[in-house]
Parts: sequence; C-alpha cells; structure tokens
Amino acid sequence: MKDYITTDEWNIIEEGFNPDYHKISESLFSIGNGRMGQRANFEETYSGKTLQGNYIAGIYYPDKTRVGWWKNGYPEYFAKVLNACNWIALEIKVNNEIVDLSTSEVLSFKRILNMKEGYLERETLLRLNNGCVLEIKSTRFYSIVDDECGALKYQITAKNFDGIIHVKSILDGDVKNQDANYGDKFWTQVYQEQIKQQAILTLRTNKTEFDVCTGIETYLVLNGKALENTFEQIQKEKYLASSQTITVKAGDQLSVFKYAANISSENHSKENLVEVCKRTLKNIADKGFAKLLKEQADAWGLKWKTSDILIKGDAKAQQAIRFNIYHLYQTYTGKDVRLNIGPKGFTGEKYGGSTYWDTEAYCVPFYLSTAEQEVSRNLLIYRYRHLPKAIENAEKLGFKNGAALYPMVTMNGEECHNEWEITFEEIHRNGAIAYAIFNYIRYTGDKDYLVDYGLEVLIAIARFWSQRVNWSEQKKRFVILGVTGPNEYENNVNNNWYTNLIASWCLSYATEALAYVEEKAPHVYSALIAKTTFDKITETVRWNEIVENMYYPEDKDLGIVLQQDGYLDKEQMMVRDLDPKHYPIHQNWSWDRILRSCFIKQADVLQGMYFFEDNYDEETLRRNFDFYEARTIHESSLSPCVHSILAAKLGDEKRAYEFYLRTARLDLDDYNNDTQDGLHITSMAGTWMSVVEGFAGMRVRDGYLHFKPMLPEKWESYSFNILFRGFKLNVKVAHDYTIIQNHSIENIKLFVNGSPLLIKAESEKEILSLKKECI
Ligand code: BGC
Repeated sequence: MKDYITTDEWNIIEEGFNPDYHKISESLFSIGNGRMGQRANFEETYSGKTLQGNYIAGIYYPDKTRVGWWKNGYPEYFAKVLNACNWIALEIKVNNEIVDLSTSEVLSFKRILNMKEGYLERETLLRLNNGCVLEIKSTRFYSIVDDECGALKYQITAKNFDGIIHVKSILDGDVKNQDANYGDKFWTQVYQEQIKQQAILTLRTNKTEFDVCTGIETYLVLNGKALENTFEQIQKEKYLASSQTITVKAGDQLSVFKYAANISSENHSKENLVEVCKRTLKNIADKGFAKLLKEQADAWGLKWKTSDILIKGDAKAQQAIRFNIYHLYQTYTGKDVRLNIGPKGFTGEKYGGSTYWDTEAYCVPFYLSTAEQEVSRNLLIYRYRHLPKAIENAEKLGFKNGAALYPMVTMNGEECHNEWEITFEEIHRNGAIAYAIFNYIRYTGDKDYLVDYGLEVLIAIARFWSQRVNWSEQKKRFVILGVTGPNEYENNVNNNWYTNLIASWCLSYATEALAYVEEKAPHVYSALIAKTTFDKITETVRWNEIVENMYYPEDKDLGIVLQQDGYLDKEQMMVRDLDPKHYPIHQNWSWDRILRSCFIKQADVLQGMYFFEDNYDEETLRRNFDFYEARTIHESSLSPCVHSILAAKLGDEKRAYEFYLRTARLDLDDYNNDTQDGLHITSMAGTWMSVVEGFAGMRVRDGYLHFKPMLPEKWESYSFNILFRGFKLNVKVAHDYTIIQNHSIENIKLFVNGSPLLIKAESEKEILSLKKECI
C-alpha cells in the first residue's frame, strides 16, 4: 500500500517526484473521453521507467496466442488494445542538453488531475546538468465535447539562463505494445503528410486493418507573442517531427501548443480520414486552447450534476469516490453501441481493453442511475449484437441448437482470452449477461427491451445451460461439472454454488420472459420462435425440470451453502491469520499452492447472495457472510464492493466502511500492488455501488425505489444524485436525518426504511433519524 497522493476533494495531486512511483502515477493521472485515452506519460523525453500508452476505443489487434499444446476449442487469438500514435511527444533541448527528468535534478514537481474540469496539469522545476534551471508547466486533455480531439499547452520558462531552446514537436506512430506475445509491431504506415505546422499520419493495424489518422498542429508563442513558424521537418517511416530553435533570455516563457485529432475508420470512411482530420484540426486550432478548455470544464460540470457523490467529513473518501466516477466517465460515455468498458479502460494494456462480465455485473448499475437510460441500454445492445458470435462460440465447444456462450473476454463478440480454465470454464459470465437484462428492466421499467432484444438473448443463454448441466444418478439432481466460479483461485470445480444458482435463475427468467412476450407481443413472439426454431414444449419442460432439481452444495451443520463440492476438504485457514508478507498471494505463491488453499480471490457465494438477496433471510446471509468473508483475500478488485454492500445490509457499519475504503482507494493507495499496469476501471463502479446500494441501501422493488440509509461514523453526511424513470432525485444522509429532494415535475412515491413516502414535484422530504417515522 502506498500513501503519496495528497488528499484533496476535487483533485488528484502528486507532490515531489518519485521515479519509483512514476508508472503508478501514469495510470492514476490518465485522461480519456470515452473514445480515446492516454496514460499520464511525460511529453518530453523520459529515459526512466515508463509504460507508454495511447489508446483508441475499438481499435485492437488479434495477437497470436501462446500455448504449448493446442487443443480443440482454444481461442484463435488474444486481442490487444493497441498502443497508438503518440501525439504529445516533444523533445526539448536547452543549450543543447535534452530535458529529461530522469537525468536532471528535479527541484520541485507537482502533477494534478483536475477532475472537476477534466484536465491534467504538471509543474516541474528542474536543473539540467549544464546548470540551466527551467520551469515546465503542461496542461492537456481529451475533449469530451469533441471526442476525436485532444489539446496540449506546454510552457517552458527560462529561470536562470540566456541561450537557445530547441523544440521538436513529434508525431510518433512507431510504437509497440509492451504486452505483445511475439514482440510484433502492430501498425503499418498508410499515409503521411507534413505542411507548415501540421503533421498527419495514417496508420493501419496489421490483420484487423483499422485505419487511424492522427494529426497534430503545433504553434509556438514567446512571452505571449506568436512566433513565426520556421520549422525544420523530419520525416521517417511512421514518424513526423518539426523542430525549431528559439533564442531566449532569462525570464522568458516559451509556450508550445499542440492540437491533435484521432480519426478512425470505425467512424469515417477510409478515403476521407485525412480530410476529416484536417477539418477537425482546423476547428480546434481556430477555437484555441483557452476556449477548448472552457468548453471542457463546462461539459464536465454537466456530467458531475448527475453523477457526483458528496461526502462531508472525510476528504480521503470524497477524493476517492470522485476519482472513481471520473475515470468511469473518461472510459465510457454510452454514445456508441460498439464500445464497452475494458477493466483497465484507457489506462493500460492489461486485460487487452476487452469486455468482461464486469460490465454487466458492476458497471450497468452505475450507468443506470447516473446517465440517461440509453447509456445502459447501449451496453445491453452491445451484447445483443454479439449474439451470433456467442452462438458460434458455443458451437465450437460442441453445443448446438442456438445455445450461446458469451466470451469471457471479447472485442467483437469472439472469445479472445487464451487461458482454457477461463474460456471453457468461467461460464458464469453468461448469467451476468442475463442478469443485466433483468436489472435494466427492473430499474427502468423498459419491458419493451425484452420484446425487442432481450428474449432472443435469454433463449440462447437458457439453451446453453440446459445443455451444460447433466443429471447425476448418484445425487438424483442436475449438476454442473468442471467450472471456474467467480473465485478464480479454484479451477475445474464441480457444482460451484454461484454458477448453479445463476444457471437455474437464467432458466426461470427466460421462461418468464417467454410468457411475457407471448402475451404482450404475439407477433414478435411468433417471429422469434420461428427464427430460433424454438420448441416451446420440449425446451421449457426441460428448463423447468432443471430448475426444480438443481443441486446446490451446502453444509447443514454450519448452516452455509458451499462454494463448491469439497470446499470443506481444504485446510481451513483465515485470511487474518496469514502473515501480510504473503500479500498478494498471486504474486508470492505458486499457482499450485493457490489452487489448493481455501483462500478466495473474490466474492463468489456472496456474489450470488448479493444478486438474489431477497431469497435469503438475514441470519442465512450473516452466517454465509461471516464464513466466506474470513476466507476471502480480495485479490480481485471486484470483490470488496460486494462485501461492503452486504456488510451494510447486515448493519455492520464498521466492516462496510473498511471494504468501502478498500474499493474506493484501491488504485489511489495501490492496495494490490498493480496500479502501475493500469487502473481497475470496472471495479470503480463497485465503489459507487458501495455508497448507493451499500450505505444508502438503495434497491428497486416492484417498480419503486427503496432506501435504508446508514452513515459511516466518520462521515458527517453524504449525498448523491439518481436518475430513475424520468425522475431526478438527490438523497442526502446525515446522522440525524435523511433528506430526499425530488427535482422533477412529477410526484414520486418511494420507500425509506420500509415506509412509503410521497415526495411532491420540486420538493423534498426529511426523514428524522434512521428509525423514526417519516414526517
Ligand atoms: C477477475 C474477473 C474479472 C477480470 C477483469 C479478474 O481478476 O477475477 O472476475 O472479470 O479480472 O476485471
């Protein structure tokens, strides 16, 4: 765990330069706008340790997998989000010495991620080996107003010297991924052009043939006066640069403005990329840096209006929750049904930038409550569009009759992860995709979704489960063998309780959905039955039989369900008894030792109890919580939030808060010692859930919002905004009261601590203390 980020409510601040933490900071201070993003690499040369990262949503490369023995069914490739053209790069020479923080003396350093207004800033004072002292101030952002654009202002002040500054403004497409199975370069140059201050490079990805045209315009300003451009131009394969030498005196300030556009063939025809790029560059350069930045701040202001959470009395928690919300909106804005939320977003290469079950299980609730309905709907439609590939994927494994197995990891619907124990076995992801449909409809009331898209997906998923189970003569029950549950610290287990539960639930839900569509939209129903050649009698009878006879491992003496068959045969150890020097075990133990231990990577049984909490009485929940919590090591970022929500439900404020801090500051404090690879974007939605579903106890039941608020002792209050079925609400929870404001033109009925409450349009209600009646 690290503690080097200065606490501040709206900013992430690093003061003083520690090269050992630089890669962590490159992740923490990343910027993005849903269409592209970038790690907080330095603009100027840096010879220290760094992970260079510029990413463009939807642009990937199918890297050849590396496996020793190829077996039928293995995915063909492992998709990689691509490190793309670097447009921020500068080479600065002062009196002929290259400016490089790694080789000079850093006198002061401050890096700030301004989350309120959406930009990254850095101030550095350094002394070069030649004695020149200079100050660098840089500000850059990816515009959320025009999401194909970025801008950089880079200012150098000569503190103690007269002489020359040599500026080279670089557009560098000769880049690699650090994580490439065979060390390949993934881009080929298609086009380059350089005129005056403008440089344009079009690069094509190998194999996938995406074209991305990146353009920059560079302007130099000395002491507020634009300099005439006398750039010397340098052209190499996949690389363009313009350099100019400027004479300065002590006290002078030289500013370099760089405007950038990334135009991709995913959004424009290949023939037009250069033209669109030039037009976009002209627009942003005409607007100028200050105006672009103002637009950016205004746009972020609007985003915060619906998504902010205000925490009083705990600045660290306040900073953390905003950090989480900010990065989620930098990663996904919901404008494009083809895009999704990679576990690392645009902050690193790990997880390949692909889509995991994380989206459905964790991110959907966040976007449901903080964005227009269309945003979460688009996340669902993303999977609908991938249905044919999910069916193909299941066919490859031997399933038939339109059964679908969604990939564990995907870019375009195809499975693209190469660990067999994940791709073949971690089939619970199918359940999360069905659950997200249910969750979306429960929240929005948009049952048309079932008619238009949902049912087709549910039929295919149900067909998969119905073929994946088998009847056990010995148990006289249906069983599911050879799976990996959410707890990836066990592979190839039988009857993972969570998997059996979600499989059976999918079958029931698909049956309900069929009945609904048959009744409400008979024409659609008939067309779908024909399209899917659905045999209603035979198929639903089997589904029901499975639901009625599914096997669930349990231990009656302990009064708990069992994570899987044989879990109690393992040596039972408690995480609290493990010497912290072993943490994280996935970095310190052999995989064999991990698989044999009882330690649980992430919520598994508790994930199921979280999804279906109404099926369990409080005592059952408590027994299972106490048992599994003691054995869970939380080495998946997705874990602590589920534990936090359940602890809150059980009234255990202390543990709910502990887990909250762990999820909220996971990256800021580098809990799992892996922030340098990128941030845990999808688990950030879990942080939001810990506040709204955990502390505030928000649920939707029968079309109504319910709250059961609690307040962590350390906090004075917290408040958050919710969009719900056309209503805009603000909920504030303090020690003695909860206030709910209805900022809508209609009255809303909801429930607080089980009691109904009517809040008129444009008004608020106060509920005194948590147990008193509503007034
Ligand atoms: C977790 C998975 C998750 C993946 C991506 C893994 O470490 O165990 O549940 O889907 O990370 O976040």
